Amino acid sequence: MMNETIIERINNNLSVLGMKHTFENIDHYLDAAIKNKTPMIDFLDLLLDREAKGKINRSVENQIRMAGFPGRKTFELYDFSFQPQIDIDMINDLRTLRFMSNAENIVFLGTPGVGKTHLAIALGILAIEHKYSAYFVNCHMLIQNLLKASHENRLEDRLKQYSKYKLLIIDEIGYLPTHIEGANLFFQLIARRYEKHPTIFTTNKNFGEWGDIFQDLTISSAILDRVLHHSTVVKIIGESYRLKERKEFMASKQNR
Ligand SMILES: Nc1ncnc2c1ncn2[C@@H]1O[C@H](COP(=O)(O)OP(=O)(O)OP(=O)(O)O)[C@@H](O)[C@H]1O
Ligand SMILES: [Mg+2]
Repeated sequence: MMNETIIERINNNLSVLGMKHTFENIDHYLDAAIKNKTPMIDFLDLLLDREAKGKINRSVENQIRMAGFPGRKTFELYDFSFQPQIDIDMINDLRTLRFMSNAENIVFLGTPGVGKTHLAIALGILAIEHKYSAYFVNCHMLIQNLLKASHENRLEDRLKQYSKYKLLIIDEIGYLPTHIEGANLFFQLIARRYEKHPTIFTTNKNFGEWGDIFQDLTISSAILDRVLHHSTVVKIIGESYRLKERKEFMASKQNR
């Protein structure tokens, strides 16, 4: 067999090393470097920098996919002027992700359609961009999963899974009632994450109503105590963005 050429070896090695970006663009880089007489150090710097950035982007995209967000909601997509009563200083502080290193919880509490889920996802995406692991789960689904695991004798694994994320987002607390067995399991998860890893909650129920959600006053106070001990509560009482979009849609139909 003939010896491989240098360029074949380069391509093989790029492929073995998983340097996807360089592998796909090597000709372009070489042409430009020859044309511009690029110094070797600049050439190497450019290649490695682009490759590393590509790799980081792919990994962030991957993690965002794995996190289970129901949509890609960012701070840039949120119109703060539509919800003027939001404490913007509080939001800006949350955006520093200080709550992550302090293991502080966040509760988005408010009326329907004001963007509680939207802002929770936005923080989740931000956390992932800063190399934290994050996972989004609907409260009812979470409790169903814990119940199922418990009945199948693999509760410990499930609890471990949900406890390991650096950030867990539990959406829609109290939208559906929870039986005492579910409440107990939910408490176990909250107790595990307490003071270790932060959790973001969204809810439309005032804390006084949490007793009704979990149908047991002792369990619900034990849960609330841990949720609120180190926490930021973001209250959003305002007009529903869903209704605004609906109104605009109806208006545009009438004008036609
Ligand atoms: N201020 C806003 N700017 C832009 N989009 C918004 C804003 N508020 C809400 N939305 C959008 O409106 C929809 C409803 O918001 P979201 O689901 O976050 O509401 P929610 O507070 O979680 O309501 P619910 O209590 O019913 O779950 C989403 O598509 C969200 O992206
Ligand atoms: Mg919601």
